[in-house]
Amino acid sequence: MALLDIEVLGARILREEAAPVEAVDDDLRRLAGDMFDTMYHAEGIGLAGPQVGVSRRILVVDVKNDDESRHVHALVNPVVVEASREQDKASEGCLSIPGLEENVTRPVRVTVEALSLDGDPVRIEADGLLARALQHEVDHLDGVLFIDRLSPLKRGILLRKWRKNQRTAARG
Ligand code: NI
Repeated sequence: MALLDIEVLGARILREEAAPVEAVDDDLRRLAGDMFDTMYHAEGIGLAGPQVGVSRRILVVDVKNDDESRHVHALVNPVVVEASREQDKASEGCLSIPGLEENVTRPVRVTVEALSLDGDPVRIEADGLLARALQHEVDHLDGVLFIDRLSPLKRGILLRKWRKNQRTAARG
């Protein structure tokens, strides 16, 4: 097991489009294991490759949905193939933007296709928090952060708060 460093807002890799994974092999499975360890250690519910400095299309999630069902997935080359027209709004945070949360509007239900860590195709029909987490993590693979999904006004407020927190942290 290994804990990986988490990239934070300002890191260029968070803004890059991650490359498709070419081979599902032991190296990739090791990476996924380290990503789970890192996510649990940071008390997050999802983590994407670029957040640990790996610009490849892999994500992990461990989400308890509203009905208490638990969903643990490591997904390779995930694609959101369907999204409901219906949307809802809920609070999101991000391990790469620690200390900030804001309501984000997203489709309520999505279908995601990917490969498992065995290299088998998987199809996940998700709603609730799982749907939200999967969309958030797939966004990371495209260099998109949840703050990009906010109105310019709200994003501005959050970014000012972020810079203020950074200055405080640098002093403290
Ligand atoms: Ni995030």
